[in-house]
Amino acid sequence: MIFYQLNSYGNVCKSAFGIDLKQRGMMTKSELDILLSYLDFNESDIVLEVGCGAGLLSAYISEQTSANIIGIDIDSEVVAWASDACKDAGKVNFRVFDVRNICELNEKFTKILAIDSLYFLSDMQIDTFLESLKSTIKDLYAHIKDDGGELVIFWSELPFFIPERKEPEYTQLGICLNELGYPYRSVDLTDYEVAFWQRLKDALICYEKDFVSENNIDLYNDELKEVEFFVERAKQGHLYRNMYIVKK
Ligand SMILES: C[S@@+](CC[C@H](N)C(=O)[O-])C[C@H]1O[C@@H](n2cnc3c(N)ncnc32)[C@H](O)[C@@H]1O
Repeated sequence: MIFYQLNSYGNVCKSAFGIDLKQRGMMTKSELDILLSYLDFNESDIVLEVGCGAGLLSAYISEQTSANIIGIDIDSEVVAWASDACKDAGKVNFRVFDVRNICELNEKFTKILAIDSLYFLSDMQIDTFLESLKSTIKDLYAHIKDDGGELVIFWSELPFFIPERKEPEYTQLGICLNELGYPYRSVDLTDYEVAFWQRLKDALICYEKDFVSENNIDLYNDELKEVEFFVERAKQGHLYRNMYIVKK
């Protein structure tokens, strides 16, 4: 949470993501452009963004397309930050909400976005994880308007599962969508992710002094350790990232 408030993190975002929207996943400016080119957002859209974090991705998409966006996040501190940061963005609203309880939401949407937010649904045992992922996707699909819409998921394979083949149908998410019988199209973003982790590592090292002067060297060290893990996975060819578009 504290990351959003740091000047040093804003600089890191600009360098690594190509735009400072306080991202905490892997959504770069290039990926945002791909999202906006594949999906036809417009002013009549009512969009749900699941796990919206800082909210600035929602605000950016709404500003570019005039779509109405409701961002939900399980973390109340994050939602308070997003609400404040986006108070002047007319068509975005944020709520504290656990996506696992989505059945309780009596609203339907023209589009549902999950940007690096479905990794935290259960413990990391592969069977329970895939079951909870499947059941959440099923509930999200039920919240797309009956006359049509899209569920869009940005998904990178989790470290505990390396698919035997690179095609989307062998990934954790592809397996879930196949088992649910939902047709989808996918866009391979692996090269973007591989380049992203190296840029993030370089950006962190470049702004280390700023983290130090903001008294946040522990945060910096934790972040760098995680980033180095992913840079290493990229070198081993173990990163797989796709955008999945499920149409109703
Ligand atoms: C990796 S961050 C990504 C944030 C944002 N989508 C981005 O790309 O910058 C994951 C977000 O999902 C939220 N989250 C995790 N579990 C959730 C749940 N069960 N329901 C709603 N949000 C959740 C976290 O609080 C966090 O803000």
